[in-house]
Amino acid sequence: MGRTLSVGIIGAGAIAAARHAPGYERAPGAEILAVADANLDRAEVLAKKHGVPIVYQDYRELLRRTDIDAVSICTPNALHAEHALAAIQAGKHVLCELPIALGLGECRELIQMARAHGVLLMPALAERFSAAHRQAREIVASGQIGRPLFFRASFASPRSPAASDWRVDPALSGGGALIDLGLHALDLFRFHMGAVSTVLADTGTLAGEAPVEDAAVCVVHGDGARGCIEARWCGAVPARSVEIHGTAGGVLVDAGKPVHVCGAGTGWEPVAAPSTEGPAGIVAHFVACCQQAAEPEVAAEEGTRALELVLAAYDSARRGQPRQI
Ligand SMILES: NC(=O)c1ccc[n+]([C@@H]2O[C@H](COP(=O)([O-])OP(=O)(O)OC[C@H]3O[C@@H](n4cnc5c(N)ncnc54)[C@H](O)[C@@H]3O)[C@@H](O)[C@H]2O)c1
Repeated sequence: MGRTLSVGIIGAGAIAAARHAPGYERAPGAEILAVADANLDRAEVLAKKHGVPIVYQDYRELLRRTDIDAVSICTPNALHAEHALAAIQAGKHVLCELPIALGLGECRELIQMARAHGVLLMPALAERFSAAHRQAREIVASGQIGRPLFFRASFASPRSPAASDWRVDPALSGGGALIDLGLHALDLFRFHMGAVSTVLADTGTLAGEAPVEDAAVCVVHGDGARGCIEARWCGAVPARSVEIHGTAGGVLVDAGKPVHVCGAGTGWEPVAAPSTEGPAGIVAHFVACCQQAAEPEVAAEEGTRALELVLAAYDSARRGQPRQI
């Protein structure tokens, strides 16, 4: 392990508090040196909770510090590109919440800039780091469920965002439940089943008056596989489950529960969990990659591809036609 990695967090809201700050606190060889948030109170609350010595209202001051090696970007979607670019230009490694930008061109530009500046740009595709999804992937690779044919994901985070919430402002969010939750579910199709060739999507606002969708359904085609992906803010019951069905059985990942497997003609049975590490494992991986100058397991391009699927899904929903990738 190299010297201690000094980290800054930009955006001190829900995901910074739930995943990034605790992740750095647990990661060996990392310390959070500063937090920046346009809302200084939030920066102070997060800093106090994690013993962080420095807070800023202006993220550019944080980036000017030469003693900060890496940053997490946890701001609203539309600000990621600006914040990531500034961090890269300041020579910081970047762990960026998704989408890393609202447009594919901007994503590619950020990737090029990170390469040119010799820093890591890692997309926070956190589900890929959950022990359950890794275990499910190994089960599929072992042949236990036969040839994987069908994927079903249900991601729901019931919330009625306030009218002032950036999530319901399309200019700040880029969309509703589809870009918020569907992006991660679509990415998991790629993680488990491989490349996507077409997407057919339907989106709607079923509860409330938000100018962005609170429900989306996508049918995706892959190489010999199909998927059905639901993403919703509406309804009262949260969900974060993935089923993969193959010629000889199925595997089920349901957040917070052990992975289950099912053979032809048998019921679902839990399988012993190899570890309890949740998606926060992503932060430890980012720290290790920064310290060892190693390429992250999940390259920045994976973030671009996840956004490409989301944008194709929005286009499909608008036109009422499948969209090729
Ligand atoms: N909350 C989750 O469960 C979750 C999960 C996965 C990904 N994400 C992603 O993380 C990002 C942040 O989401 P969140 O839920 O934490 O949002 P949030 O609204 O809770 O937090 C965002 C924070 O960014 C701050 N901010 C706004 N403009 C800023 C600026 N110019 N400079 C510095 N700070 C600024 C806000 O004051 C706020 O504290 C989003 O891209 C979201 O999609 C969130």
